[in-house]
Amino acid sequence: MTVKVAPSLLSADFGRLRDEIKRIEAHGADWVHLDVMDGHFVPSITIGPPVVKSLRPHTGLFMDAHLMVSDPENHIGPFVDAGVDLLTVQAEATAHLDRILRKIKEQGIMAGAALNPASSPDLLEYVWPLLDLVLVMTVNPGAGGQQFIPAVMPKIRAVAEQIKFRGLSTELEVDGGVNRDNAREIIEAGATVLVAGSAVFKAENGMGLIGEVKSIEIQS
Ligand code: DX5
Ligand code: ZN
Repeated sequence: MTVKVAPSLLSADFGRLRDEIKRIEAHGADWVHLDVMDGHFVPSITIGPPVVKSLRPHTGLFMDAHLMVSDPENHIGPFVDAGVDLLTVQAEATAHLDRILRKIKEQGIMAGAALNPASSPDLLEYVWPLLDLVLVMTVNPGAGGQQFIPAVMPKIRAVAEQIKFRGLSTELEVDGGVNRDNAREIIEAGATVLVAGSAVFKAENGMGLIGEVKSIEIQS
């Protein structure tokens, strides 16, 4: 099994988003990770459905939208219309996780739940059959370029164990502070999708990281 790489556009040049997507596509990215922030669930404001819709015709990449917004239920329709392939909501942002996951899946796209560093996988206990993806945040959401929080590593292993134990094919995405130094350990912990923003767009030979991560092989 090869891991997928999902570069986060958050660290790209926002004046040249179309070119930046073409660049990651040319370097072998599998997905493009779209960080949506509303200035409420997190202080920053980033992009919304109109930007995603404008980018959609310019790439064949799988669009992975990570909603760091309050009341995510209000935003499903516009993102589906914009053409995303996956909508991941923060488990902490809704009191109705079951309902929202069902609503996303009814639209014919994949549904995911994200866990902040302090959140327990127990939040997912009763929604496992609805989850196409679990996103484990390894920084506190709100900004790119932060340091990976090592204390979250056991949670990656715990979520991977749950997926295996339940015989599910749920993707396990890890997001925040991923770089050349920690990618192997994260994959060994069980991640199937690695998000990387600053390590791809802002580091030396960042584009090369995409191929390097995809070539990592581990004993299963
Ligand atoms: C953080 C976002 C991440 C972040 C990743 O709120 O969800 O996707 O931009 O960026 P790096 O890889 O720079 O930590
Ligand atoms: Zn993200």
